[in-house]
Amino acid sequence: MHGQPLYSSTVALEQSLARQIAARRCEVRRRTSPQFSEACQPGFFKAYAGNTNCSKCPPHCFSYGEGAAICRCETGFFRAERDPPSMACTRPPSSPRNLLFNLNDTSLILEWSPPSDTGGRRDLTYNVQCKRCGPEPDQCQFCEEELRYLPRQLGLTNATVTVMDFSAHANYTFEIESLNGVSEMSSFPHPVAIVTVSTDQGGPSLVGTLKKDWASPNSIALSWQQPEQTPQGILDYEIKYYQKEHEQLSYSSTRTKAPSVIISGLKPATWYVFSVRTRTPAGYSSYTPKYEYKTTGDSSDIASDQGQVLVIVTAAVGGFTLLVILTLFFLITGRCQWYFKAKMTSEEKRTNYQNGHVPFPGIKTYVDPDTYEDPTQAVHEFTKEIDPSRIRIERVIGAGEFGEVCSGRLRTPGKKEIAVAIKTLKGGYVERQRRDFLREASIMGQFDHPNIIRLEGVVTKSRPVMIVVEYVENGSLDSFLRQHDGHFTVIQLVGMLRGIASGMKYLSDMGYVHRDLAARNILVNSNLVCKVSDFGLSRVLEDDPEAAYTTTGGKIPIRWTAPEAISYRKFSSASDAWSYGIVMWEVMSYGERPYWEMSNQDVILSIEEGYRLPAPMGCPVALHQLMLHCWQKERSHRPKCTDVVSFLDKLIRNPSSLLSLVEDIQSLPESPGEEMDFISIGDWLDSIKMSQYKSNFMAAGYNTLDSVARMSIEDVRRIGVELIGHQRRISSSVQTLRLQILHEQEKGFHV
Ligand code: ADE
Repeated sequence: MHGQPLYSSTVALEQSLARQIAARRCEVRRRTSPQFSEACQPGFFKAYAGNTNCSKCPPHCFSYGEGAAICRCETGFFRAERDPPSMACTRPPSSPRNLLFNLNDTSLILEWSPPSDTGGRRDLTYNVQCKRCGPEPDQCQFCEEELRYLPRQLGLTNATVTVMDFSAHANYTFEIESLNGVSEMSSFPHPVAIVTVSTDQGGPSLVGTLKKDWASPNSIALSWQQPEQTPQGILDYEIKYYQKEHEQLSYSSTRTKAPSVIISGLKPATWYVFSVRTRTPAGYSSYTPKYEYKTTGDSSDIASDQGQVLVIVTAAVGGFTLLVILTLFFLITGRCQWYFKAKMTSEEKRTNYQNGHVPFPGIKTYVDPDTYEDPTQAVHEFTKEIDPSRIRIERVIGAGEFGEVCSGRLRTPGKKEIAVAIKTLKGGYVERQRRDFLREASIMGQFDHPNIIRLEGVVTKSRPVMIVVEYVENGSLDSFLRQHDGHFTVIQLVGMLRGIASGMKYLSDMGYVHRDLAARNILVNSNLVCKVSDFGLSRVLEDDPEAAYTTTGGKIPIRWTAPEAISYRKFSSASDAWSYGIVMWEVMSYGERPYWEMSNQDVILSIEEGYRLPAPMGCPVALHQLMLHCWQKERSHRPKCTDVVSFLDKLIRNPSSLLSLVEDIQSLPESPGEEMDFISIGDWLDSIKMSQYKSNFMAAGYNTLDSVARMSIEDVRRIGVELIGHQRRISSSVQTLRLQILHEQEKGFHV
């Protein structure tokens, strides 16, 4: 590949050397000739005084008198600054010829022939000028800077240029000017060749309606439909936006490859105007009409949008007492509902509000088995009785509150034998325990969705009483992720999250509130399909080792639960959305414990103060934004499951939207954050239980927290933190430090 150029350049070098040697010989001969000391005649010149020969004026030059030191140029000819006196005077080139354009799907190529008159020079170049013209000839203006020229716009040496990023449906006039080393000396306009190109052909069409997916105090998520024509040819979208009250005074713009975007850094409770255009290789579309959307109020709702981060808050807050009082109040009022349980058929029950959910006619809704006076009735209605002879128990795979969980096989006449998990009710139970145990089956039996664990049936007519469900090969999501730390692509993780969101959407459409959504309550099959499991309302919480007793007497998994559900047991699909955000965090951190070693009490107080979990290591910005959105204090501001599903779908369809990672955008300003330096590296490592790496940090020169806050994941690896779990924990804490520094600098706070 390199042979030819090397060969030609060697030849050229040899030729140039030969020329230099010949010139040197001539010079020696000239110096020794008889005319050596004569004065120059008109038409001759002698550049250097002394005993040198006179030279004939080169072409387009003249000298009138005797003894000229230089020949002057004829009118219209020039000598460039670096041209030697012996060189002919030259002139600007004529215009390029035969200018043609070629507009194809990918680019606009302009080509031309060199000018017929190069002006006697070899330093010919071309410049491209572009004007965009309206229907009338006087409506031209210079093209905006958005046009891209390959290889460049000015100083082209080849007679061709490729133009990119132009708008479709527009008229462009391109002028190609030819120049050489004396063009600037001429007072005449540079000669040009002109062509007008209409980009109507092959341009992208407009995108569809610009829809708001959700808004928070500082962000708005938008999405739109891809244009039907050439969606594959879309390079990206440009979103232009400005604050409505500043009407076009200044605007911001951003690009995205996905047909969706989250615009951050907005002001709370403020109207913004948005429009979008597509960019294909054939140019830009026009902008969509303007759409106006408003951010939600109260920036304290979602403090993390401002870069706040979870910190350990240990002070007791007087307001907590108020919460306790409120909780008692709501507990009492909430309890009243228990007295209104009436005897109803399941159809009647369906038409009643479930968990505050108003069912739509024709849409199946969930029936709370507790609304049956006789819970056995609900079991009959929603489950199938299995003959125990069809079940083969193989091994114990776990232990539940009511008894062992086993794996086994289930035979069904006329069907293939399937793998099942069997939950058993251990002997010696009382009637209440039997009822609570079967309650889960009555709930599960009402669901039919690929992301919800499927009930095969129950055994109630013989002992042991059993619940038989589909077998899910990889077990619970939290331990599965911990065992496979760092093994999945972001797309695979988002695929799992999408499945969970889809299951949760199904549940909320049915009017069912899970109350204990957490990675430990999700099962993963061999295709990484996630299935929401562990149903049973209050019983679920009794069974959950994470659930802690609150001052209100309820048992609640604090780290996963929305503040209003902790404070006054306001469980709803919106509180499930909060838990979903925590599950997202668990998934993206491969099963890390939310809020690490913090006590439940500190978690409650920190959340109340507005702090939120920082993004896990390697987490795309879009996903952390979604988590923050799920953790909005005001529950009506949280996303609906359907929004989450469609948002994740868009991310999956456009993986490039996942490329921007939180750590990439949280770079610190150059000025040192002295406010961190009063904490030693040792104390910091102790606090995250990573003291064993103190010497690694010191040896690598990281001896202030400010320097640590600037570390990348790579740096953490480089200093010898080999275990991925440890890298993850340190990186997570580095990010926390970084956010703290940013936050304190924002506040202008210095210790
Ligand atoms: N552990 C609990 N339930 C399970 C199931 N359905 N499949 C596999 N493991 C389980």
